Amino acid sequence: MIVAIDGPAGAGKSTVARELAKKLNFKYIDTGSMYRAITFELIKRNLENSKDLEMVFKEIINSIELDFIDGNVVLNGDVLTKEIRTPLVDKNVSKAASSEVVRSFLSSEQRKLAINSTNTILEGRDTTTVVCPDAQVKIFLTASLEERAKRRYKELIEKNIKVNFEDVLKQIEERDKSDLTRKIGPLKVAEDAIVIDSTEKDVQWVVDKILSIVISKRNG
Ligand code: DC
Repeated sequence: MIVAIDGPAGAGKSTVARELAKKLNFKYIDTGSMYRAITFELIKRNLENSKDLEMVFKEIINSIELDFIDGNVVLNGDVLTKEIRTPLVDKNVSKAASSEVVRSFLSSEQRKLAINSTNTILEGRDTTTVVCPDAQVKIFLTASLEERAKRRYKELIEKNIKVNFEDVLKQIEERDKSDLTRKIGPLKVAEDAIVIDSTEKDVQWVVDKILSIVISKRNG
């Protein structure tokens, strides 16, 4: 069974997906970490400011192998965890996410990974529309802009990063806008996806809700 979890930035997709994979004993594929791994490689090669990024991405793609172990992305045998969550990767990841070459490569890799494992939680933007529109369970997890900004603000404060709430809110608002309007892989709700609004709900509530959907689907 493939459970695909899609939705906007900050809706809690990763937290929910990780917890759900643990509970169900499914393989967890965090598609965002694959965009991050390619960005990490781009920075490692000092090529993040290249003029012809599509060319650079082509070279990178031809020389890497990606996999997943225990929910962590593996690039050419190296398990990547903290090193793909640095401010430098954050700053440059939109280059990989808006590259046609990268999107087409990763969509096909993600699909292969999902299909080749017995049971999978496939998490990330466009997993229900592009990567796996035929997933048995499709969830679109969302939350209000305010709520998503609050969560992001809390996360940053906990990491001792000084930020202003209004700035965080504005940043998420801008990211929503660019996600919804971008040419390649725009954020959209798949026709038959189940929309779950996590505003004012905790992680456990969302996990239980998806669990009951998976169980009822399994029981036919
Ligand atoms: O979820 P995240 O922050 O780790 O995602 C990293 C970046 O990749 C972010 O800019 C969203 C983008 N992304 C994407 O475009 N498509 C996906 N399936 C997953 C993530």
